[in-house]
Amino acid sequence: MPASRTQQLAFAGLQTARVAFYGVHYLAARLAARDSFGALSKTEHPVPSLAAMARAMADLFAQDWRNVEAGLYPVPLNILKEARRAMASIDYLRDIPKVVKRQQSRGHSEARAKADAKKLPRYFQQNFHYQTDGYLSEDSARIYDFQVEALFAGTAEAMRRRAYVPVAKYLERRDPAKTVLLDIGAGTGRFLSFVKSVQPELQATALDLSAPYLARAKRALRHAKGVTFAEAAAEAMPLKDASVDIAVSIYLFHELPPKVRAAAAKDIARVLKPGGIFILADTIQYGDAPPFDGLIDVFPELLHEPYYKTYARTDLKKLFGGLKHASDDIAYLTKISVFEKPKPKRRS
Ligand SMILES: C[S@@+](CC[C@H](N)C(=O)[O-])C[C@H]1O[C@@H](n2cnc3c(N)ncnc32)[C@H](O)[C@@H]1O
Repeated sequence: MPASRTQQLAFAGLQTARVAFYGVHYLAARLAARDSFGALSKTEHPVPSLAAMARAMADLFAQDWRNVEAGLYPVPLNILKEARRAMASIDYLRDIPKVVKRQQSRGHSEARAKADAKKLPRYFQQNFHYQTDGYLSEDSARIYDFQVEALFAGTAEAMRRRAYVPVAKYLERRDPAKTVLLDIGAGTGRFLSFVKSVQPELQATALDLSAPYLARAKRALRHAKGVTFAEAAAEAMPLKDASVDIAVSIYLFHELPPKVRAAAAKDIARVLKPGGIFILADTIQYGDAPPFDGLIDVFPELLHEPYYKTYARTDLKKLFGGLKHASDDIAYLTKISVFEKPKPKRRS
C-alpha cells in the first residue's frame, strides 16, 4: 500500500523530534567535556557549519522517505519503541561525568580490568569512545545504542537503514528463505532487528566479540525465526567457506587495527559464496564528503578511536581486494560500499 501524506508528515515529525532529542543529549555531552579538548579547534580541515549539517541530514531523511515510497521498507514509525529507547536518557546522562573523566585523562584501558577481558584480543580491551567498560559489560550494552544515536544527533537509524538498500536489491531475484545474511560486529542487533522486521524469512547470523552485546542482540531478536548467534572475531569467523550470501558490517572496520582489518577482509571473502555480496557501512573517509572532512579530524580525538585515523585514509578497494567493488552510497556521515565475490568463469 502506498504511504499516505499523513504518514509522511508523521515520519517528518518523528525524525525532527529525534534529531532535537538526541541532538540535545549530544550537546550536553559536549558541554560537559568543554574543558577536555583545548586543541580541537586546530583541525586540519574546517569544521562544517550547523546549516551544512542540517542540509545533509535533511537529504538523508528525504532519501529514507523515497526508499519507503519505493516499497523497500515500511514507514519507520514505531512510537512506542522510540519512547522505550528514549528512556535510556537517564543512564546516558548519568554516565557522562565518567566519560568526561576519561576524556580529560585520555584514559582508555580501564576495560582491561573486566572479568572477560583477558580471553579477548588486546586491541579489543579498550574503552572505545571512552565509554564505560568498553564493550565488556551489560551496562555498556544497555546504553550503547543511545550513545550512538546521540553522537549522530538522531540520524544513526536512518543511516543504518540505508545499508538495507543493497540487501533489498540482492533479494529482488532470490528467495529470502534460502538466503543467509551475516552481520559482522552486529553489536546489540539494531540492524538485524530492522532487516528481520522487513524480511522475516531471511536466515541470519549475528556475530560479535562482545558477549554482553550479543546477549542484548539475542534479546532484541528473541521473536525472530532463523537467527543464530556467534561470539567470535571478525578475523577468524567460525563459519564454513562459501556459506554466506550477504555479509554486512556496520561501524566495525574503523575500530580494527590495520592488520586485523586486513585479516577480517580476507575472512569475509572466504565465507562469502561466489556471487554473494559484502556491504560495508562505516563512517565516511577523507574526500567522500569534503565539507565534513573537519569532523573526521575531530572524531578520534573527541572519542577514543585508536585506529580511526588510519581507517579514514584506507583504500577500501585495496583492502577488499579479494572482492569486486560494485558501488558507494553516501548517507550523511556513513558510506555504504558494496563488494561482490566474483563467480568462477565457466570454461568454454
Ligand atoms: C561500533 S560497534 C557497531 C555495532 C553495530 N554494528 C551498530 O551498527 O551499532 C562495533 C561492534 O563490533 C564489535 N567488535 C569489535 N571488534 C570486533 C571483532 N574483531 N570481531 C567481532 N566483533 C567486533 C564490538 O563488540 C561492537 O559490538
